[in-house]
Amino acid sequence: MKYIDIANKKLEEIRKKDDIVILAIESSCDETAVAITRGRELLANAIASQIEIHKRFGGVVPEIASRNHTLAIDNVMKEALEKANMTLDDIDCIAVTYGAGLLGALLVGVSYAKALAYATKKPLIAVNHIKGHIAANYIAKPDLNPPYLCLIASGGHTTIAYVKSLEEVEIKGTTQDDACGEAFDKVARVLGLPYPGGPQIEKLAKGGNPTIELPTPYKDKETYDFSYSGIKTAVINYVHKAEQKGEKISREDLACSFQEKVTDIMVNNTLRCAKDMNVKTVVIAGGVGANGVLRQKMSSRAKTLGIEVYYPPMILCTDNGAMIASQAYNMIKSGAKASDIDIDAKADLRVWE
Ligand code: KG4
Ligand code: ZN
Repeated sequence: MKYIDIANKKLEEIRKKDDIVILAIESSCDETAVAITRGRELLANAIASQIEIHKRFGGVVPEIASRNHTLAIDNVMKEALEKANMTLDDIDCIAVTYGAGLLGALLVGVSYAKALAYATKKPLIAVNHIKGHIAANYIAKPDLNPPYLCLIASGGHTTIAYVKSLEEVEIKGTTQDDACGEAFDKVARVLGLPYPGGPQIEKLAKGGNPTIELPTPYKDKETYDFSYSGIKTAVINYVHKAEQKGEKISREDLACSFQEKVTDIMVNNTLRCAKDMNVKTVVIAGGVGANGVLRQKMSSRAKTLGIEVYYPPMILCTDNGAMIASQAYNMIKSGAKASDIDIDAKADLRVWE
């Protein structure tokens, strides 16, 4: 029998269980991650971060990321199995991120997962990274059920998605230029802060006040879309002008003003969309979702509108394998077929694909 036929036959048996054991691999950017879940329960979440390696370049260097995934992946998998106190025999299914992300980085995880699935004759589930970010919420809150509205804010995406089912999303608004995390990273660089900029700006902003005026995009337009390039340019110009005049700036105030502005926009757009659609549950996903000001602002403003807000713990906001396992579980429960071993990585995979 061909591999794919064996895989699909096994998947049909697995689908009936609630306690499906999934081993998921994530390598789309600068984290090599392997997680093991049983149903919605997280058994192991091993993550080898490359942040220290890329810091000296001020951002992720794709070739260096791929090489380090190759070096790390075997050990990260062993660590996950050890943490879960399991062997490969205990695993029902292999899941992997196949897009979106850096092509070379994705290929490391995809090749590894294909080889593993083929050698062990286990079904392979190829997962969309962005849907994975959304699915991190089911681990934190297993009784969460669609439909709900999700703000996905990461290094590559800023999108408001209407999550219709465990599998289907409808885009309500998205960034027209930079992603929110990208803007955090670029502004951090201008302020002389290391990569990744988001947590650094959040820390610096704690000592500042939002006293610096920054532009509001789409002020007079009825849209749920985002734009960050104008705000980013305003910050850069502010710093350069001060430098030219020999004036000292308050980096704390600038970090705080920037953070206030971008979180205001995210919260306003998301809650306006929720109100217009009469949706009573809002969920936050993605690396920028780790931002405390965003979480707090979304929760307190939503409360006044009778809207409930959920977000995953910080470790499940930034890239991890648990979110990929969680989406693989959703896919299996929604009737997905196994992926064949000719599956390819797709760098520009869209949210709704
Ligand atoms: O989701 P993620 O780990 O990777 C992508 O899929 O892109 O997101 C990474 C992004 C980076 O831009 C990082 O600066 C941002 O998330 N980030 C934050 C915080 N923690 C991470 N942004 C704002 N505040 C944070 N606390
Ligand atoms: Zn991500």
